[in-house]
Amino acid sequence: MAYKTLEWKNNTLVLIDQRVLPFQIQTITCSDPLEVAEAIRNMTVRGAPAIGAAAAYGLALAATRSRAATPVKMLAAIRNAGEALKAARPTAVNLAWAVDRVIATLETREFASIIQVREAALAEADTIAAEDVRVNKQIGLNALPLLPDDVTFLHHCNTGALATVDYGTALGVIRTAHEHGKKVFVYVDETRPRLQGARLTSWELQQLGIPHKVIVDGASGTVMKNQGVNAVTVGCDRVAANGDTANKIGTYNLAIVARAHGVPFYVVGPTSTIDLDTPSGDKITIEERDSSEISLVGAERVTPVGAQVFNPAFDVTPAEYITAIITEAGVCYPPYTETLRTAVERARQK
Ligand code: MRU
Repeated sequence: MAYKTLEWKNNTLVLIDQRVLPFQIQTITCSDPLEVAEAIRNMTVRGAPAIGAAAAYGLALAATRSRAATPVKMLAAIRNAGEALKAARPTAVNLAWAVDRVIATLETREFASIIQVREAALAEADTIAAEDVRVNKQIGLNALPLLPDDVTFLHHCNTGALATVDYGTALGVIRTAHEHGKKVFVYVDETRPRLQGARLTSWELQQLGIPHKVIVDGASGTVMKNQGVNAVTVGCDRVAANGDTANKIGTYNLAIVARAHGVPFYVVGPTSTIDLDTPSGDKITIEERDSSEISLVGAERVTPVGAQVFNPAFDVTPAEYITAIITEAGVCYPPYTETLRTAVERARQK
């Protein structure tokens, strides 16, 4: 992509502001970990892998800004920052995964100076960011054999370069298919309430030259019935050990509609989104966001003053509706309790 989701520059973290895309291309600069936590909370940066990488750089900022005199004290400051970053959004496991990974790396090392702690924190954040791009490209390749040469996708939310460090997961699958010469068409769910599909996915597909049409979320049934959809591809924010998957609100509806029409329903994500410590979807915390996301569209109020709204940001799709979970370590099929564990172990060995 011409624009970077996130970038470490002059000891700061620069984020493209996804709240104002596609009409304004603006960046915000975070100079300390609390600014990164706020950017994650207010969705300047969003998408499970992207918020994980941003949080990792948030810890690098904690090290850079800390006035601690010793490595031990600096580690304490980094741990504190980690708690603030993890609290920014609860559902996507990549956030906690990235924070825990940076801290675990620092804890296994002996440091002679605070400079070394700073360098190690930044090096681990850089590794997480570089791995993310590599992993996404491998996911795309792993998905290729599942797709016909002339393929019509239905895609939910935004899972592209903007939701990751680069390339994307479910949108990365679409992109790989296009780059490998398949004839690709995409129906893009607008993805109310924050319109990640209409604003971000359509913008990315335009830049990639991939033909597509944006649809309202409620059109997915009729589109699957009448428009020759061959595959539904969605991302994931947390995949439980049994395959139940939390993803953007509306994903569960899509899975049921896909089942009703015999369309394969693929969940796409890195193994860092698989949470083997969460046995099933009912144990996943679902973020509820501000009512204004529903009662306002832009600055316009669309509900009567005083109307109550319910705004869960994610839902859980039961594993039984998922045809396969596509990861960098291979394509997982049911029984997910076995195949997801194998994929995670395979990824750890690399
Ligand atoms: O609330 P968001 O925009 O952060 O939600 C994003 C999603 O649900 C994505 O589908 C998921 O994070 C996977 S992104 C590669």
